[in-house]
Amino acid sequence: ANEIDFREVVNSWYLQNKRDLPWRRSSDPYRIWLSEIILQQTRIDQGLPYYLRFIKTFPTVFDLAEASEQQVLKLWQGLGYYSRARNLHYTAKEVAYEMEGIFPKSFSELKKLKGVGEYTASAIASICYGEAVAVVDGNVYRVLSRYFGVDTPINATEGIRYFKELATRVLDLEHPGDYNQAIMEFGAMQCKPQLPLCASCGLQISCVAFQLQRVDKLPVKLKK
Ligand code: ADE
Repeated sequence: ANEIDFREVVNSWYLQNKRDLPWRRSSDPYRIWLSEIILQQTRIDQGLPYYLRFIKTFPTVFDLAEASEQQVLKLWQGLGYYSRARNLHYTAKEVAYEMEGIFPKSFSELKKLKGVGEYTASAIASICYGEAVAVVDGNVYRVLSRYFGVDTPINATEGIRYFKELATRVLDLEHPGDYNQAIMEFGAMQCKPQLPLCASCGLQISCVAFQLQRVDKLPVKLKK
């Protein structure tokens, strides 16, 4: 396993394989925020129609702020985790009425918004503003644990810290937003949870899990 090879293979894989998704044509923080909130616990194919309906109904953060909570929850119906929708509406009102419609421009300021945690703040800061912060989601845990052969549990304090450090070391500092999307997309489409596509993977020869036939054992998650 090698950090530089990893970054280069993931970046070039993404150039060839990335899906043409509507939020990838934008760097409007409202659109990126909305897409990342929807995608937090939802697969892209499931979340996409919701994203399109939200953007059509509420083209700007002011439109979302002016909606009633009922209207927002109705559009959210079927996605589950309804606190996400309530936080979405709350934060839209905060940005619209207390920040003149302008989203905060750094990771640490973004994190202060309700419903915006490490994951969403990293995604928005890197994609919209080019800030060098690594995104760590379930895809990233899986890809890193396999390629680097890390069996520290991903849901224990030590693992969370370790994977954040590793993700930060392999981050592409020149294009953090594209790279973060590349590693997530690589996890979703190539290094899949079940039946990963190792035979066609450009990382196969240097992947620790592949070499040790441990691909199906990683990542390790503690039962709590
Ligand atoms: N999953 C959630 N957000 C994503 C993004 N921006 N790119 C790829 N996969 C994602």
